[in-house]
Amino acid sequence: MNMARKYVLLMMGFAFFCLLAAAGCTPLPEQAQQIASPSAAASETALPAPSPAESVAGTAAPAFDMERRSVRLNSGWEMPLNGIGTYSLYGETCTGAVKAALANGVRLIDTAHMYGNEVEVGKAIRESMAELGIPREEIFVTTKIYPGADMQDPEGAIQACLDRLDIGYVDLMLLHHPDPNDVKAYEAMVKFQQEGRIHSVGLSNWYVEELTSFLPQVSVMPALVQNEIHPYYQENDVIPFIQELGIVVQGWYPLGGRGHTAELLSDPAITAIAAAHGVSPAQVILRWNLQKGVSVIPGSSNPDHIRENTQLYDFVLSDEEMAQINALDRGEKHDWY
Ligand SMILES: NC(=O)c1ccc[n+]([C@@H]2O[C@H](COP(=O)([O-])OP(=O)(O)OC[C@H]3O[C@@H](n4cnc5c(N)ncnc54)[C@H](OP(=O)(O)O)[C@@H]3O)[C@@H](O)[C@H]2O)c1
Repeated sequence: MNMARKYVLLMMGFAFFCLLAAAGCTPLPEQAQQIASPSAAASETALPAPSPAESVAGTAAPAFDMERRSVRLNSGWEMPLNGIGTYSLYGETCTGAVKAALANGVRLIDTAHMYGNEVEVGKAIRESMAELGIPREEIFVTTKIYPGADMQDPEGAIQACLDRLDIGYVDLMLLHHPDPNDVKAYEAMVKFQQEGRIHSVGLSNWYVEELTSFLPQVSVMPALVQNEIHPYYQENDVIPFIQELGIVVQGWYPLGGRGHTAELLSDPAITAIAAAHGVSPAQVILRWNLQKGVSVIPGSSNPDHIRENTQLYDFVLSDEEMAQINALDRGEKHDWY
């Protein structure tokens, strides 16, 4: 990004920040407490509807708090940095994985209408809340509505997600992919956000070109963009572009995705770094993401892996190790979108 563009983003960011501050909606530390009170927090953190120009305003890249293991989204809500993904997990396998994750301290769970497992995810959350005494407001649940029928009738699709999950509210809802009706679908999510039934809204599989044309058309800045990111597909041009807009980046397929994990986890550069720190290759890759300011949602149905994937905060990759992993980029996408 050239200097002129950076300057314009910076100035727009400042204007957007002032707008939020004037409206009393600047995310403040106290809001961490309000998260413990969903109804109060929902009304406090409902965003004003900025004009289209303001919606593309940039702010500073959201800072990851490695002590709290969380990040404050631009919506004012706090999100854990690491979680569990549930793509391709069904039935008892899905319920067991989500319950194992919650029992091991994971508080961020990623699902989608398209995964066909929102019912199982919701059941696992309700059972864990009852069995382990975990308050709902400690758990951060993301779901997504899909292109096509969902986005033609977005209000019906959003309500159906809420009904299938049956956990009161959804912490973050994403549009799963661009679609001819995506602006309409996004504004429907914003309406649910204003009613407190969704806390934050965002996008998935939106890259620089898509964001550049989409953002001027919507009233609220996305809180998060979820894209494919792993050492063989790093998106080094996309990540800073998104972060400079004040949007959190989250990576899907952090371990390369099923069918690709064996090669990535046995990459000599990664296994050498893992050996040096006495951790696993998966932990090195997840930590590399966190140090780049990318939230991670590795998928697993193996309780040992699920636990291992939470242990990311007791070691630090050096600049040299980060550079070694950065050098593995092949621009190699592991899915079509
Ligand atoms: N927005 C989108 O379009 C999109 C697209 C794809 C995925 N996603 C989201 O991203 C999540 C992550 O992607 P993914 O689950 O497909 O792929 P992934 O996380 O890259 O890889 C999952 C694979 O890694 C293995 N694994 C997990 N932890 C491990 C560990 N510590 N050591 C060794 N192997 C380990 C799992 O096997 P075990 O079960 O044996 O642990 C599984 O085979 C999805 O679940 C989904 O929530 C979003």
